[in-house]
Amino acid sequence: MEDELPEATIRPAVVEDADAIARVHLASWREAYQEVVPPEQLAAADESERAQRWRETIEGRHGSVLVADLDGDIVGFAHVGHSRDEDAGFGTQEIYAIYLEPSAWGRGVARELMRSLLGGLPDNAPVTLWALADNERARHFYRRHGFSPDGVERMETAGDRSYLEVRYRRN
Ligand SMILES: CC(C)(COP(=O)(O)OP(=O)(O)OC[C@H]1O[C@@H](n2cnc3c(N)ncnc32)[C@H](O)[C@@H]1OP(=O)(O)O)[C@@H](O)C(=O)NCCC(=O)NCCS
Repeated sequence: MEDELPEATIRPAVVEDADAIARVHLASWREAYQEVVPPEQLAAADESERAQRWRETIEGRHGSVLVADLDGDIVGFAHVGHSRDEDAGFGTQEIYAIYLEPSAWGRGVARELMRSLLGGLPDNAPVTLWALADNERARHFYRRHGFSPDGVERMETAGDRSYLEVRYRRN
């Protein structure tokens, strides 16, 4: 385990954060999925296009985005909103994404981000998320925060590959 970082400020994202969120998103995705996603697909992702999508998400009404801000440096973010699953019960929330800059992994920031995120949700709201079956680190992290697999799985396709995803739930 690396040293813990100073406590980050967890705050709602503003549009000006979109570039930093896209940078963290891609750096984190490339590091986490290097053994899973083909290198050409990892390399092809475009940061400015991602930033534009994050701008639209922050400005729009689909869920909320939180950032972990360390002295003005965005080192992580999470996106949460109503579950998009067809079988979701009323009020079920979903963590669509939680990503940290790789240099911040294992240093306490993810824990702060997750606690703030869960603390901002309605009391007792069920919360779900989808994790790649191969993403052992994230799966371990979710279990630590009270999530467990609810038995629902799906195959997601990206390019010419399919990936098994596992749904986690916390009540
Ligand atoms: C998922 C993520 C936000 C978690 O943040 P983090 O700082 O790495 O989380 P933590 O270090 O608190 O927890 C990870 C746990 O997994 C453990 N771990 C690390 N590597 C592991 C591995 N290969 N297999 C299993 N567990 C692993 C750590 O020891 C830690 O467990 P502990 O708390 O019992 O010591 C961060 O790793 C990340 O941004 N990953 C890339 C993006 C991603 O995968 N997002 C989730 C998409 S579903």
